[in-house]
Amino acid sequence: MPTVTPEIARLFHSRPYGESVRFLRSQLPAPPDIALVLGSGLGDYAESLPRSIIIPSAGIPSYPKSTVPGHKGQIVFAELAGRNLIVFQGRMHLYECNDLSRVLFPIAVAAELGAGTLIVTNAAGGINRQFAPGDLMLITDQIDLTFQAPGIPGDRRGNRDLYDHELTEHASRLASARGLSVQRGVYAAVKGPSYETAAEVEMIHRLGGDAVGMSTVKEVAFASALGMRVLGISCITNKATGIGSSKLDHEEVTEVAGRVKINFADLLTDCISGMVMQFAFLQ
Ligand code: HPA
Repeated sequence: MPTVTPEIARLFHSRPYGESVRFLRSQLPAPPDIALVLGSGLGDYAESLPRSIIIPSAGIPSYPKSTVPGHKGQIVFAELAGRNLIVFQGRMHLYECNDLSRVLFPIAVAAELGAGTLIVTNAAGGINRQFAPGDLMLITDQIDLTFQAPGIPGDRRGNRDLYDHELTEHASRLASARGLSVQRGVYAAVKGPSYETAAEVEMIHRLGGDAVGMSTVKEVAFASALGMRVLGISCITNKATGIGSSKLDHEEVTEVAGRVKINFADLLTDCISGMVMQFAFLQ
């Protein structure tokens, strides 16, 4: 894996991912092309995939464990439309561990195994007043409000255009073809674990955020710095504090994520299948 800065390289000295990579290589029938990270309440998609191999992360040497309800902490390998997928059911959050090496670990592993594309998903609170719970949002850009060092630099060209335009357009066209209404917007991340206050949501709105969550930004910055192409999809599970009237809790988030599961799964399957046709020339 290309190391992006000495600081990032040092992160992985304390948590080497080589053992996990070797173990996964011994279990996987083929190197993955696409890595998919499934956020809160969205993990079931992995189990719907054909001919999947499920690898509990507890059995993977050096692999960090997530503690959040709704995150199964499994890795699923599957083949879909000729593409090999490595799927991470759930993720580690900064608020759980305060340790960036754990948060970035699956990305490092996926990149080292050979995945060139990352599809990242999450549950998020809607700040844009046009958004309703149950909407899907294609992430066009992000704002990192986690205030967690070390920062992650751009790739070698200094590029900080993190989300791949072509993949995003592709997802948008596929969603329209299915009659799904898909929003687009800027995802802002706070560290959590508490939900934002209404004043914080208003601040994020003024800064240009359309949705808020507690994940994704570090993984995407890192994947992009490693040269991966990134598609990001948020499931808007609730109106952020102060935007709607209902009280916010984690059950509501997983319940709404559960309801949009079918649209979400259809869109993911279309995107992955379509990537084969659209990007076949890249092979
Ligand atoms: N805020 C932060 N994270 C979230 C939210 C929210 O409103 N909904 C789902 N994840």
